[in-house]
Amino acid sequence: MRTDTGQVFRLEDYRPSDYLIPKTSLTFRLHPDATVVTADLTIARRPGADRHSPLILDGDDLVLKAISIDGALLPASAYQATPDQLIVASPPDAPTFRLRLETEVSPSANSALMGLFRTNGAYCTQCEAEGFRRITYFLDRPDILSVYTVRIEAPKREAPLLLSNGNRQETGELADGWHFAVWHDPFPKPSYLFALVAGDLGAMHDMFTTASGRRVELGIYVEHGKEPFAAYAMDALKRSMRWDEEVYGCEYDLDVFNIVAVSDFNMGAMENKGLNIFNDKYVLADEETATDADFANIEAIIAHEYFHNWTGNRITCRDWFQLCLKEGLTVFRDHEFSADQRSRPVKRIAEVRTLRAHQFPEDQGPLAHPVRPRRYREINNFYTATVYEKGSEVVRMIRTILGPEGFRQGMDLYFQRHDGQAATIEDFLKAFEDASGRDLQQFALWYHQAGTPNLSISTAHDAAKREFVVEIEQSVPPTPSEARKRMMHIPLAFGLVGRDGKDFEHGPVEGADVENGVIHVRKRRHVVRFAGIAERPALSLNRGFSAPITLTVEQKPEDLFFLARHDSDAFSRWQAYNSLLTDALVAARKQAAFAAKLADLAGVIAGDASLEHAFRALALALPGEADIAREMARDIDPDAIFERREALARMIAQSNEAAFREHYAALAFQGRFRPDAASAGRRALRNTLLDYLAPLPGGAELASRHFVDATNMTDRAAALTVLVHRHGETNEAKAALAAFEERHGANPLTMDKWLMIQATAPGAATLDKVKTLTRHPGFTMSNPNRVRALIGTFATANQTAFNRPDGAGYDFFAGVVLEIEPRNPQLAARLATALRSWRSLEPVRRAKAREALQRIAGSDDLSADLRDIVERTLA
Ligand code: PHE
Ligand code: ZN
Repeated sequence: MRTDTGQVFRLEDYRPSDYLIPKTSLTFRLHPDATVVTADLTIARRPGADRHSPLILDGDDLVLKAISIDGALLPASAYQATPDQLIVASPPDAPTFRLRLETEVSPSANSALMGLFRTNGAYCTQCEAEGFRRITYFLDRPDILSVYTVRIEAPKREAPLLLSNGNRQETGELADGWHFAVWHDPFPKPSYLFALVAGDLGAMHDMFTTASGRRVELGIYVEHGKEPFAAYAMDALKRSMRWDEEVYGCEYDLDVFNIVAVSDFNMGAMENKGLNIFNDKYVLADEETATDADFANIEAIIAHEYFHNWTGNRITCRDWFQLCLKEGLTVFRDHEFSADQRSRPVKRIAEVRTLRAHQFPEDQGPLAHPVRPRRYREINNFYTATVYEKGSEVVRMIRTILGPEGFRQGMDLYFQRHDGQAATIEDFLKAFEDASGRDLQQFALWYHQAGTPNLSISTAHDAAKREFVVEIEQSVPPTPSEARKRMMHIPLAFGLVGRDGKDFEHGPVEGADVENGVIHVRKRRHVVRFAGIAERPALSLNRGFSAPITLTVEQKPEDLFFLARHDSDAFSRWQAYNSLLTDALVAARKQAAFAAKLADLAGVIAGDASLEHAFRALALALPGEADIAREMARDIDPDAIFERREALARMIAQSNEAAFREHYAALAFQGRFRPDAASAGRRALRNTLLDYLAPLPGGAELASRHFVDATNMTDRAAALTVLVHRHGETNEAKAALAAFEERHGANPLTMDKWLMIQATAPGAATLDKVKTLTRHPGFTMSNPNRVRALIGTFATANQTAFNRPDGAGYDFFAGVVLEIEPRNPQLAARLATALRSWRSLEPVRRAKAREALQRIAGSDDLSADLRDIVERTLA
C-alpha cells in the first residue's frame, strides 16, 4: 500500500516527459507468490528534451531483480531503485536505447486489486489509473503511448487460457507442462490500458462482422459453468458494436474482442484495449438470478467499455486532469445507446434521478470539484459522479447548443484530428468550435467551475400587450476553494404551454438568444419578453433536463398539475408531478385539497394506458428520503423525513386502493420471461403498485404471494423488499428470507441482493442486523461486491439506521472503513464518501458523524486514498 506523501498534483504543472517509450515488450512468468516480469523497453529521448535529464520511472511496491541497458548489466552506481521509483542518472546519449528490467511481484499478496492480482484462482490485472507501476517500473502516465508485445508463460493445467491486449501472435509448449502465448497490440496505448488474464475459465464465443467487412472474434470468459449467463452480455456487445458504427461511424479495429468477468474488482469494469475486464456483476445474468435493473446495467456497461475503444483508447487523455475527456463523453455515448435500445424518456428520467442522487450532493458538499479538476492528491478519488455523470451532461449540452448535425461534425473532426493522440478538454472543445463556427469560451466554464448553478425564475403575462415575460436570475454557489464564480452559459429548453396542451408559437423575443426552443442564459439576469402571447401559458422549463441545474420557480401549483398531465415533453411531465410530490413532502403542505389532488393524479397516471408502464412506475415512485433531505438542505432529521414519506405513500394508496388493486391484478403476466424494456416496465409498474398496497390490510399476505408466485428475480426481489422493509417481524418475511437463501445461497451475486435488502430495512434495529450479517458465511470483507452490498448500501441507502441519533451507525461504519483500509485503500476511500453530507444533518447527528470522521482521520498510517477523502470531508 502506498502511504500518503501529502503530495498535491496540479494541472498547471503538466510538462511532457523527457523520455518516450515507443515499444514495450513484456514477459510474465506467472507464479502465485513470485511472478517474474521482464520488461524490455525501447526508450527514446523526446525531441527537444534536455540531453542531461535523468530517466525517472514510476514504481509502486516493486522489487528490482535485474537491470541492463543495451544488453549490458548496469552497475549499482548507475541507478537508484526504491519500491516506488527507478532513477537512471545518465542514460545513453543515443536517440534510442533498450532498457531491460526484471521485477518480481506477488499476485496472491495483492489485496488492493491494483496491478497483478489473483481472483478465483486466475491471474488478472487492473492498471487504471496507476496500477501498471505495480508490475514494472515505467513512465506510468497516459501521454506515454507504446506498442506492446506480451509473452505470458504459465503451467498449462493451472492456466490453459492466456490473454492480453491486441491479437494473438503465437502459442506453444514449454518444458515441465508449461506453455506460452504471445500477444501483440498494434495500436500505441498508455500503460493504464494494459491487461493480462491467465487462468482456467469457461468461454462463450461469437462473431461480429464490421461495416467494412472485418470479421471479429468475440469471447466472453467466465467461471466454468457460468457460460450461459453471458448470453445477454454477448448480445449487448454486438448491439453496441453496430450502434457505434451507425451513430458515430466508429468501427472496431482488432481481430478479437475479449471480455473477462472476475469476482474481485474495485470498479464496474475496465476498457483495456481489446480485453475488457468486468466485475462479474455486470456480465452474468439470467431471469432466475438478475433483476431488470441488472440487465439494464449490463447493457449500459458493456456498451460503455466497448465505446471507450474510440473515446478513451484510440484517443486517450493527456493527463489525469482530463479524465472527463474519456469518461464524460463515453457516459454520454452509453446513455444515448440505452435511450435508443429502450425508451428515451424513461431513460432520461432515470439518468436525472441518478444525477440528482449522486452528483448533486457531491457538487453541494465538501468533495465538490470541477468536471475537470485542477488539483488532486489521489487520482483514484476522482472517478466521481461529477467527472462521469456531470461530464456526460456537459457533452449533452454541447449537442443541444450545436444541434445533432453540428455535434456529429464536431465529433468527426475530433476523431480525425486526434486519433492516436493523448488529448485535452481544450482539444475537444476546439473541434466543436471549428466544426460549427460557434464560440464555446463561456460554455467551457462547465468544465472549470464546480457547483450546481441555480436559475431563479418568475413570470408575468400582459394580456393587453400580448406579452409573456420571463425573468431569470442566475447564481452559482461557492464551493471548496472557489468562492467567486463566473456566470455560465446555460442552454435552457422550454415551452409555453397553452390550455390545449400545445406549445404557443411565440413572436419576436427580446432579452436573450432564443433558438429551437432553447433560451441561452449567459448573464446574471435576463428579462426575456415573448411577443404574441394572448393567454397566460404554463411555463415548461428545462425540458429533457437540458442543463444540470436547480430551478427555483415561482409557479402556481395548478400550472404544475396541468403540466404533469399535458406537457408535450414526457420528461417535463414527470418532473412536474415529481415537483408536486417533493413540495408536499418538503413543505409538508397540510392543505387536504392539495394532497387529495396529488392522490387523484397518482390514480390517473397509474391507469393512463397512453403512458408506458415504465414511465408510470417512475412517476408513481415517491422522491427518496435522500432526495427530500437534499431539498431541505439543512438540519436534516432522517426519522422525520421517513415518517412524512410513509404518510404520503399511505394516503395515496388509501385513496386509490381499489384502482391500484385492479391494475396490480391486470399486470400479472404468464408468458415467457423477456428482459426487454417493455416487459421490464410492466414488472416495474406492478412492483410499484405492490409497494403502495403493502401497508394496507392484507399487505403481508399479498407480498408473500407475490414472492411465492415470482418466476423471475425482479419480482422475487421486489416482494422480498416489501416483506422485509414493511413487515420485517412477520413470519412471512422470515420465511421469504429463508426461502431466498435456500434457493440462492450458492450464488454470491444473487446473495448480494439478500444482503442489500436486509441492510436497507428502515429503523434503528437494522444496525444490529447488519452487524450480525457481517458474520454470515456468505459475507467477507475481502470481496468488494460483498462489502458494497452490505456496508455500502447500509451507509448510502438506509437513512434511518445509518443516521441513528446515538451515532452507533457511524461508529460501526468507521470501524469497517478502518478494517478494510489496510487491505484495499481504494474501496475504503470510496465507502467513506458516504459521510460527505454530514454537515447538513441536525446538530446531534452532525456531531456524531464528525466524531466518526475524526476517528478515521486520527488513525496512523492512513493511505493517500482515505486520508484525502476524510480530510476534504472535514475541511
Ligand atoms: N475506466 C473505467 C470505466 O469507466 C473505470 C475504472 C477506473 C475501472 C479505474 C478501474 C479502475 O469504464
Ligand atoms: Zn469509462
